[in-house]
Amino acid sequence: MTFQAELINWYQNNKRDLPWRHTNDAYTIWLSEIILQQTRVEQGLPYFNKFLENFPTVSDFASATETKVLKLWQGLGYYSRGRNMHATAQAVVNHYNGIFPVNHDELIKLKGIGEYTAAAISSFSSGEARAVVDGNVFRVLARYFGISTPINSPVGKKEFYKLANELLDQDDPATYNQSIMEFGAIQCKPKSPNCSICPLNQTCYAFMHQQVNLLPVKIRK
Ligand code: ADE
Repeated sequence: MTFQAELINWYQNNKRDLPWRHTNDAYTIWLSEIILQQTRVEQGLPYFNKFLENFPTVSDFASATETKVLKLWQGLGYYSRGRNMHATAQAVVNHYNGIFPVNHDELIKLKGIGEYTAAAISSFSSGEARAVVDGNVFRVLARYFGISTPINSPVGKKEFYKLANELLDQDDPATYNQSIMEFGAIQCKPKSPNCSICPLNQTCYAFMHQQVNLLPVKIRK
């Protein structure tokens, strides 16, 4: 099996049942991705449900007061995320007729949506072929392919993005993106991953060369 097929196979057997994986609604996916930017899934889940209950549509979000948005956000930290969300909801209502964009190049113009989030929303909602590259993806690629270029250097970013897009499954980018992120979160964990049960261990550079704990490389800035 190819690297991609192994990942997708692993995902089908091991994925967590998370609510934002049952929709292709860009607004709902946006909510989940912004909440999860600096927050673990277990902590973010109740917030995701709370926001969706209070604001079932992007128009509901846009017409809320900032005080209400920030009150719901309480406990998540990084309040700029909540403020940017409010601004983005209003921009979607005012400039996109209340229809949340699904294309990467439109999404990236919105406040609080960077390269990762634009790739996530566009691939999950419309199947656009954009590779997500988050901390999980950096780690999986660095270990499996034995890449020691620092992930937080400009050269490293370029190298990893290039590889990630070459590997992307063009037929089903959404499932592949979810698979590699989930694999990084659950199997190829930062600390003490259980490589003995990993379906990719026989072709993993880091495992075969005892470098699992040395990759990925990050430079101190
Ligand atoms: N973290 C960020 N995006 C995620 C997603 N779609 N599923 C699980 N964890 C995530």
